[in-house]
Amino acid sequence: MLSLISAMDKNGLIGTGKALPWKVEEEYQRYLDTVKGKKIIVGRKTFEISGLDLKDEQVHILSSRSQGTNYYNNIEDAIKACGENDIFVTGGAEVYKLAMPHADRLYISVIKGDYEGSIYFPNIDANIWEVQHHEELPEYDYYIYRKKG
Ligand SMILES: NC(=O)c1ccc[n+]([C@@H]2O[C@H](COP(=O)([O-])OP(=O)(O)OC[C@H]3O[C@@H](n4cnc5c(N)ncnc54)[C@H](OP(=O)(O)O)[C@@H]3O)[C@@H](O)[C@H]2O)c1
Repeated sequence: MLSLISAMDKNGLIGTGKALPWKVEEEYQRYLDTVKGKKIIVGRKTFEISGLDLKDEQVHILSSRSQGTNYYNNIEDAIKACGENDIFVTGGAEVYKLAMPHADRLYISVIKGDYEGSIYFPNIDANIWEVQHHEELPEYDYYIYRKKG
């Protein structure tokens, strides 16, 4: 099972290019709990920004230039390297776009409030995706989408 996991505002904004536009501790903790121990595919920019303390065997970084352990030049090789495990694609926008055609689930937190930034999640096509689960929480709405059919 391959899932995309992202937090966005109501307009699909996910980042400023350098950071997240918000700080919502409860949502971020839920993200960490969800991906804990899972295989992760992440873009080189997000990996460098996030500074997450991820275990080597867990993280697969997509880059067209960087070489070495944990780095992959295309999404297909990164997916293959994850094997038969649950995989979470943790962004950013470029990598979400590449991974979306391969995804079975989307874990989306819609953060309440107005924010500024320049990086957006790709369109969630209602012909392809349906809401499987929805929770309304004080600071954000939580959705799990599954692929139709
Ligand atoms: N709100 C959220 O949930 C969330 C989650 C994650 C990130 N973000 C935000 O998103 C922003 C970063 O996103 P981004 O779209 O700018 O960058 P990104 O997707 O994190 O990383 C882009 C990099 O991935 C590599 N890449 C992209 N396409 C590739 C391909 N076809 N083959 C091989 N490598 C490829 C390239 O690395 P090289 O340049 O090394 O070739 C490219 O520069 C930040 O603001 C971050 O805070 C938000």
